Amino acid sequence: MTLDELRLQASTCEGCSLSERRTNVVFGEGNPLSPLVLIGEGPGDNEDKLGRPFVGRAGQLLDKAIIDAGLQRSQVYITNTVKCRAADWSSGKPVNRAPTEVEVTACRRWLEPQIAILKPKVILCIGAPSAKNLIKKNFLITRERGIYFPCEFARTAIATLHPSYILREANKGGDGGYSLLVSDIRRAYEAALKLAEKDAETQ
Ligand code: URA
Repeated sequence: MTLDELRLQASTCEGCSLSERRTNVVFGEGNPLSPLVLIGEGPGDNEDKLGRPFVGRAGQLLDKAIIDAGLQRSQVYITNTVKCRAADWSSGKPVNRAPTEVEVTACRRWLEPQIAILKPKVILCIGAPSAKNLIKKNFLITRERGIYFPCEFARTAIATLHPSYILREANKGGDGGYSLLVSDIRRAYEAALKLAEKDAETQ
């Protein structure tokens, strides 16, 4: 199965109730040959409308961090733990919420084959929910960000702060952890390149 075939299948998914209100399935984008894959939590309003990951306020900060890390967005592949927007509609207007465990589990049917096709050397989990899904259930972002962990889907995985968290923290003063996001992206990409080179030598 190719990535495009998988994307096409995912585009009509009705595997959980998030499908009822979504505008677009946000499958992922970027360089499918990149040794580094960034995996966030799930699409928000802008992502849902455009069908692209990380294009809202958090995405703009992520783009800036990628550039400050010395890279271009097109050098990595970016996707999310869940592919459809999770929102609470009880007030009539959608309010973004974290995806439930049921929704995260349902979306593994896309995330797992997607990673299997991409075969990244390193997965960079953007935020705690992604790290809890891909590294370990009890992942503690405050203590364990920036550390390499074994991962069943790549040679290694590392987690960093979510740009939405950084935006909230920066309102209180300081950089909100932005410099950590930049250095984690840089380190993750360097590690991914090294692993790719090493693998190429032994082949
Ligand atoms: N937050 C995420 O985790 N993913 C997106 O695509 C956008 C915001």
